[in-house]
Parts: sequence; C-alpha cells; structure tokens
Amino acid sequence: MRIAIIGSGGREHAIATTISKSSLIKEIFCIPGNAGTSKIATNVEMDINQFDELHKYIKDKFIDLVVVGPEQPLVNGIVDYLEQFNIKVFGPNKIASQLEGSKIFTKKLCQKYNIPTANFGIFENKIDAKKFLENAKYPNVIKADNLAAGKGVYICNNKQESFMAVEEIFDGKFGEAKNVLIEEFLEGEEMSYFIISDGTTVKSFETAQDHKRVLEGDSGKNTGGMGAYSPSRLISNDLENKILDKIIKPTLKGLSDLGTEYKGFLYAGLMIVENEPYLIEYNVRMGDPECQTILPKLKTDLAEIIDSCCNKKLADINIEWTNKKSLCVVLCSKGYPDTYQKNVLIKNLENLSLNEDNFIFHAGTKNENDKFFATGGRVLNFISLSDDFLKARNEVHQCIEKLDWNGGFYRRDIGYKVIN
Ligand code: AMP
Ligand code: GLY
Repeated sequence: MRIAIIGSGGREHAIATTISKSSLIKEIFCIPGNAGTSKIATNVEMDINQFDELHKYIKDKFIDLVVVGPEQPLVNGIVDYLEQFNIKVFGPNKIASQLEGSKIFTKKLCQKYNIPTANFGIFENKIDAKKFLENAKYPNVIKADNLAAGKGVYICNNKQESFMAVEEIFDGKFGEAKNVLIEEFLEGEEMSYFIISDGTTVKSFETAQDHKRVLEGDSGKNTGGMGAYSPSRLISNDLENKILDKIIKPTLKGLSDLGTEYKGFLYAGLMIVENEPYLIEYNVRMGDPECQTILPKLKTDLAEIIDSCCNKKLADINIEWTNKKSLCVVLCSKGYPDTYQKNVLIKNLENLSLNEDNFIFHAGTKNENDKFFATGGRVLNFISLSDDFLKARNEVHQCIEKLDWNGGFYRRDIGYKVIN
C-alpha cells in the first residue's frame, strides 16, 4: 500500500512511524511532513488547503490511502473532495467535522440528544451578550464559535473580563464572528477520550491527559500542548460505559439522523465531575501530543486498522495495547508561545541512542545538509513507556538532557497529578 499522511506535526510523525512498521506499507508520503518524517517517508512541499493540487499529486503517485492529521482540511471538506474521485481517505467528512468546526453545532446536538455538557447560551451580538453577563454567575466561559487553533476560549472571573472577551470575539480576533457561546464553568478533572470509527463500528482508542499551559503548575499562556500522559487516572469500565452511552453513541446517532456518519478518529474533551462525564468539546482528529503519547502503546498494525476503517471492516479487528504507562514531554523553542527564533541548529540529535521504550517524534523541525534545525514553537516530542509514570518521566528527562539543546525549554512537571 502507498499511503499519504497530511500534516507536519508530532502527531503526523508518530502516525508515519507507527505505520512504517506495517508489512502492508510500500511507501509513505508526508504532505508536507518535517525532518523526522523525511527519514522514513517522502516529504512533499505543498499547501494542504489546495485540494486540487493534492488530488493531482495523489493520482500521479498512485497513492492508495490518505490519512488526514489536522482539523483545518477536514473542516474544509478534504474528505468529501477526495472521495468524489474514489480516493480512500481516513477522516470525517465535512458535515461530521462540524463537531470541531462549530462549537454551536455541537452544543445544539448535545441539547437535542440529551448529551451532558455545560449549560450554555448563544448570543448574536455584543448588546445581548453583555445584557446576559450583567447578572451571570462567575466564573463562566466565553467561546468563539469557529476554529481558533485552541485559542478562542476565555475563562472569565468577573464582568470586566467577560465584556472584554465578547468585544474581542465580535471584533474578529478569531475570524468573522456571528455568535458567541457563553457557558457555565464546570469544576472537575479533564480527560481526553479517543475512539476510532468506520461509520458503523466504534472502538476505544485509549485515554490521555494533556497539559496545555506553558508554565509548570498548569499556569501561564495556553499552547498547543506541552506534554501528556496515557492512560488518564480517571478511566474505569464504569466511566467508559457512561462516556459511550451518554456521549459517543448519541453523537453518532445525531450524525446518522443528519444523513451522515463518522469515519476517523474522534477526540472527546471531557470534564469528569464526580465520576460523571460532561462533553467540553470534540476534535475530529487525534490530539497532539496525545497521539504521540498513545501510539507507542499500540500493539496492532495501525495501517491495517486504518485500512479496515476505510473498508468498513473495523469490526474484524482486535485492537491491542500494552499495559505500560506512556508519558510525553514537548521540547519547545525558547519564547514559545510568543515569539521565538527560527532555523536554530539542534546538535546531537542524530547521536541520541534510544531503547525500545523510548521515542522521539519531530514537530517543528527541518532537515538541511543532514543537519536538524528548529523551525517551530513545539520542536520535539520525547516519549517513554514504563510500568510507572515517574520512571517514564525520568527517562524522558534523561533523554532531553543528553540532547543538551540550549535553544529549547520544557515543563519538568508533566504528569504531576499521577506522579506526586
Ligand atoms: P476548548 O477549546 O473548548 O477545549 O476549551 C479549552 C479549555 O478551556 C478546556 O481544555 C478546559 O480546560 C477549559 N474549558 C472549556 N470549557 C469549559 C467549561 N465549560 N468549564 C470549565 N472549563 C472549561
Ligand atoms: N492537545 C490538544 C489538541 O490536540 O487539541
């Protein structure tokens, strides 16, 4: 099989690495990929939002299957576009991708199918939103409707903060805004729950918890994710059944009532309040860095799993996992998530020796004359599997210290809830 993976982050390098171990795979193309993927695949410099160019390349190279990593092309309808040419694509279609593309779409689905979620209101202009906020309870949560790369969410402690959030959203900080969403603040512990689906059969794809804030103790600015661990400490059979029965199945029923279905990975961002799951958000893809954290635990052939999803044969596959714990730390460029230097040489990376339980996945890197350069904010993901989260974290730290890259920084407290 010739496979193309769309995207350039740590998630896509983890998918490419895992797929490369499959005997089904002849060749991998990463569009556009990074320095890590260039070692196991052909990187293709191309704008992933130019669907006609993508289609031409996929046809010219006789690619059998396309895996879409990030949300933007999914929300823009890449699956529908490529499927009209009979290309096999792993990922949800445009209607289903609204689960991530529009928070209001998801909230309305929750309302219609009784899916537990924070109470909410939708407001179409500044005046109505502020009128409601005059007498609202605090803290509350204000969200832009559209994709905002994880940034369109404000936790507001008082009227002043909430008014500012409403101003910024309607003034177009996250693109044109027709509405804002104002939500009740849920107090609990977050957990990410993943499934994989072929449109009919759904299987669990493990749990994780990420750390989104840049500073230790989960403080400072929001980022794409500074690290993660898997499994979540909250998961149990009882909780998993509640998540499936109260959240996942009614969501898939809602899509079916809209005349469509869900194929791909689905990531439910949950708040667990007294062992009850509430949906905070859906993402129509794997998480980053959750994907890098979870895939090293997978024992079953990923190419076979994905191909079976595209052939509606997921029911025939038994997905197996190691029992080990996995922990991932993201090494970032100093200054991230604000400004940072680009094209900084990372020495020593090719000399790091890894044992079979240690993994490095690239994110913002490029390869030039056999040297590695940091080009992005999140640069490298270090993962370790172990019987114990503390051991896993210690191994990750040893690996990062061996690299000795002084252009980078990382959080030393990833997984503190499962370690201290
Ligand atoms: P979202 O982009 O919707 O996942 O929101 C980003 C982050 O904001 C989440 O990971 C939560 O930490 C927090 N958050 C969002 N909605 C709520 C809510 N209703 N109650 C408490 N925290 C929330
Ligand atoms: N780690 C959060 C995300 O992928 O959205």
